[in-house]
Amino acid sequence: MRVAVLASGRGSNFQSIIDASKENKLPNCKLELLIVNKKEAYAVERAKKHNIAYKIIESKNKKREDFDHEMLEVLAKNKIEIVVLAGFMRILSKPFITKYKNRIINIHPSLLPLHPGAHAHRDVIKSGAKESGCTVHFVDEGVDTGPIIMQETVVVDKNDNEETLAAKILPLEHQIFPKALHLLTSKKLEIKEGKVTIRSD
Ligand code: GAR
Repeated sequence: MRVAVLASGRGSNFQSIIDASKENKLPNCKLELLIVNKKEAYAVERAKKHNIAYKIIESKNKKREDFDHEMLEVLAKNKIEIVVLAGFMRILSKPFITKYKNRIINIHPSLLPLHPGAHAHRDVIKSGAKESGCTVHFVDEGVDTGPIIMQETVVVDKNDNEETLAAKILPLEHQIFPKALHLLTSKKLEIKEGKVTIRSD
């Protein structure tokens, strides 16, 4: 399946997909395109290094629908079937979600439905939770509310702060994100009544 990754920054999760692809762990995934919404996003350097096509579509000062429409045009031109949000810090509009219904996945650095939004680690530390982790989920119209595909957990120590917690969780993100993408591109995921089941055949 033809896959595009959307990112806003560092792109380490994008890199985990590139690496998995190079290690033949994503046999049904053709990594066709990276889109970033900030020109300084380091993810672009990763695309260049690995000869992956990329497009910079600045989101600054644009209406959400206009920006999403621009992305949809690029995705259509590239015949993209699956959209992967890898540290993409924008909320997608309804037309975008509708167009790619059940074909957009996101990685989020908490155990959803706990601690959605842009400051998950900060919110976890503030809450006093003893456990956190990461979640790969389908994207629906809410903020980090879509059906959950896969999660990993870590213990939050009393000395943890935002940075140490993020550093603990990130390697787990890099493990589960390509795994979930593999299941999706292999058509092994089913959504029923908002819940994901993984077909074992
Ligand atoms: C990752 O930790 C990802 O889970 C998080 O941003 C980071 C991006 O890192 N995403 C969110 O918080 C989405 N709400 P990366 O650019 O190195 O992949």
